[in-house]
Amino acid sequence: APIDRGRFSNKTVFIMAAIGSAVGLGNIWRFPYVAYEGGGGAFILPYLVALLVAGIPLLLLDYAIGHSQRGSAPLSFARLHRRLEFIGWWQVAICVVIALYYAAILAWSTQYIGFSFTQAWGDDPEAFLFGDFLQTEAGVVSLEFVPAVLIPMAIIWLVTIVVMALGVQKGVGATSVIFIPVLLIAFGALVVQALMLPGAIDGLQSLFAPNWAALLDPAVWASAFGQIFFSLSVGFGIMITYASYVGRKVDMTGSAFVVGFANSGFELLAGIGVFSALGFLAQASGAAVADVVSAGIGLAFVAFPAIISQAPFGALLGVLFFASLVLAGFTSLVSILEVVISAVRDKLEMGRVAATLAVTVPMAIVSILLFSTRSGVIVLDIADYFINRFGILLVALVAMIAVGWGIRRVPWFAEHMSRFSSIRLGRWWVVLVTFVTPVLIALMLVQEAVTAITVPYEGYPAWMLGVFGWGAAGAALVAGVLLAIPKWKQTTPLEAPPHD
Ligand code: PHE
Ligand code: NA
Repeated sequence: APIDRGRFSNKTVFIMAAIGSAVGLGNIWRFPYVAYEGGGGAFILPYLVALLVAGIPLLLLDYAIGHSQRGSAPLSFARLHRRLEFIGWWQVAICVVIALYYAAILAWSTQYIGFSFTQAWGDDPEAFLFGDFLQTEAGVVSLEFVPAVLIPMAIIWLVTIVVMALGVQKGVGATSVIFIPVLLIAFGALVVQALMLPGAIDGLQSLFAPNWAALLDPAVWASAFGQIFFSLSVGFGIMITYASYVGRKVDMTGSAFVVGFANSGFELLAGIGVFSALGFLAQASGAAVADVVSAGIGLAFVAFPAIISQAPFGALLGVLFFASLVLAGFTSLVSILEVVISAVRDKLEMGRVAATLAVTVPMAIVSILLFSTRSGVIVLDIADYFINRFGILLVALVAMIAVGWGIRRVPWFAEHMSRFSSIRLGRWWVVLVTFVTPVLIALMLVQEAVTAITVPYEGYPAWMLGVFGWGAAGAALVAGVLLAIPKWKQTTPLEAPPHD
């Protein structure tokens, strides 16, 4: 008998889970910086174009694949054509790599909730982060454990394993249904507190002041598309997997617009919160906003600690900020793991708990071994940079070419999606997904490849970039091809295409 794959009990749970995946660290620590660098208020133009021309159309394609084929990424691709199964496994492998380091960032954020009370970073948050806390040594690879990272990582993995074992509805779905409203309240409170800080207005002015000249820079347009792809979690299996758990008669097209705009709404909110706080930091340290602007690890673990130390009710601000990172990141971590568990269940016809343990226990061990040691942060930085480009972007391009040009299924998908939606996916969508989006992604990839080859990322030694960067991205592709070799028992499409 076929396994019970699990499903979301209704459309709202699915939408919450999809928003839970989309809203992640990228919204909070990546978007504000990308918008600021990309022309501030003028960035709204490339950003909206990227959302409507590539982001939502690609989200719709993922939904169409998962919802019509009703399988994990590898099973869905195998049902479309047996030779395409490797794309699904490639996506699975990419998700494995990302999950390994995502858990580490969650662990740091959890620790910093506590540090917000004690202000453990003293008056040099940067020295504290890399020295006292992570115990990194430049150029040295050390496999010595850092207990302050190891312990929270073990806890994060334990909680994650329990949630994943609970299944699609009670684990994955319920987590987002609870976490996303809590996140909205916590982050909303943070925005209110940040807006009341002296200097907040200067921060907002720097973020929103439009630099129209930026619109003439192709790099700004590329960064808008890059942000949208990463931010919507499209093209690497997550949305295929989630859509496969949705009832057949649910309006998927409408859902895609809800998820797309909810994610962007949260990015705007994050921009306001982050830049209000940066405006305060600039004023408190007598610097210009431009001198304190940062993103990613630097924003969260260097700039924010400085803000927390100097702001009135700083501990509260810190708890709200780091708790938001944990809440947003956790639902994203759950979504990438679901891609892996779902694939293993479909392929081996395993029960939920058995598959969860078989997947997550080895991953937890590798994740902790790699990222709770003194070199963890360097490996993480390199793997993140490469997998986002030569993993996510590349597999999205290959999938679009395979579906749009190889098996020419996009018009059929348009019909499938329009069956239960008031929004019709017409020729406009087919043209976008078949021609426009792949060309844009291909252009970005070429540009990224030239950069990565000519400028060694962050000046890291070539062997490190080779192993943890190109190596990790390449290994994901090789793993995908190898995992697709054993054949499925059951891969017939669930709905015969009407034109075949
Ligand atoms: N979409 C998430 C964000 O914007 C990022 C993410 C990456 C989610 C990988 C899941 C997996 O932060
Ligand atoms: Na996002």
